[in-house]
Amino acid sequence: MLDSDTLCFDMYGTLCDTTSVSETLSAELDLPAGFVADVDALWRQTQLRYAQQVALMDDYVTFRTVTERALAYALDYYNLDPDRSARERILASYDHLEPYPDAVDALGRLGDDRTLAVLSNGNPEMLETLAENAGLAPHLDELVSADEVATFKPDPAVYRNAADRLDRDLGDCVLVSSNAWDVAGAASAGMATAWVNRAREPAETVGGDADIAVESLSHLADSLS
Ligand code: LAC
Repeated sequence: MLDSDTLCFDMYGTLCDTTSVSETLSAELDLPAGFVADVDALWRQTQLRYAQQVALMDDYVTFRTVTERALAYALDYYNLDPDRSARERILASYDHLEPYPDAVDALGRLGDDRTLAVLSNGNPEMLETLAENAGLAPHLDELVSADEVATFKPDPAVYRNAADRLDRDLGDCVLVSSNAWDVAGAASAGMATAWVNRAREPAETVGGDADIAVESLSHLADSLS
C-alpha cells in the first residue's frame, strides 16, 4: 500500500509546528512561559474540538473562524482580555508557523517520484499563505482543503474529496499525519496511512490503524525511499 505515488500531508502539527504561536502569545500577553504553554495547548485543543463539533452539528464555519473562536475561548478560560488588535496579531501567527526542521528536506526527497499534496482542515487562504511563508509551496503539487466539502476531518467526505481531486482511488492515497485521530479517520475511510508519531503517543482505539508509524518526517522519507 505504501508504494503509492500519492502522499497527502496534514498541515497543522505535521508539516508545521502549531506550538510556534507561543512566541506571539508571549509577546502579546506578557505572561510567564509555563502559562503561555497552557494557553497555547488549550487553544489548539479547542480548535480541534470545535472543528469536530461544527462538523457534527452540520454548522460549518471556516477553520480560520474555528481558530479565532477557539482563541477567544482559551483567553476567556484564563481570564485574559487582550484588545482586538492584539487578538488579530495572535491569530495571524497561524500564517507564520514554523515548518518542522525536517519538513522541507523530507518533501524534497519524497517528491522526486510522487505527487505530494496537503490535505488539511485549513481553509484555502490559510493553506496557501502558510505553505508560501513556510517554504513548503515549491514542493507541493496540490493543496486540498476540507473547506471544499464544507466539513472537517475526520469526516470521510474530506478524505474522499482528496482522492477525487487527485484523481486516485482512496486506497491509492496515503495520508501522512502526526494527529492520531486523523490517521484513525483516514484509515477508517479507506485511505492508506502513515503516522508521524513524534510524541510517541499511544494509537487511537477507535477508527482504523496506521499502516506505518515513524518518529519523524525524515524517517518517513528514509522508509519510503
Ligand atoms: C489539519 C489540522 C487539523 O488538518 O491538523 O491540518
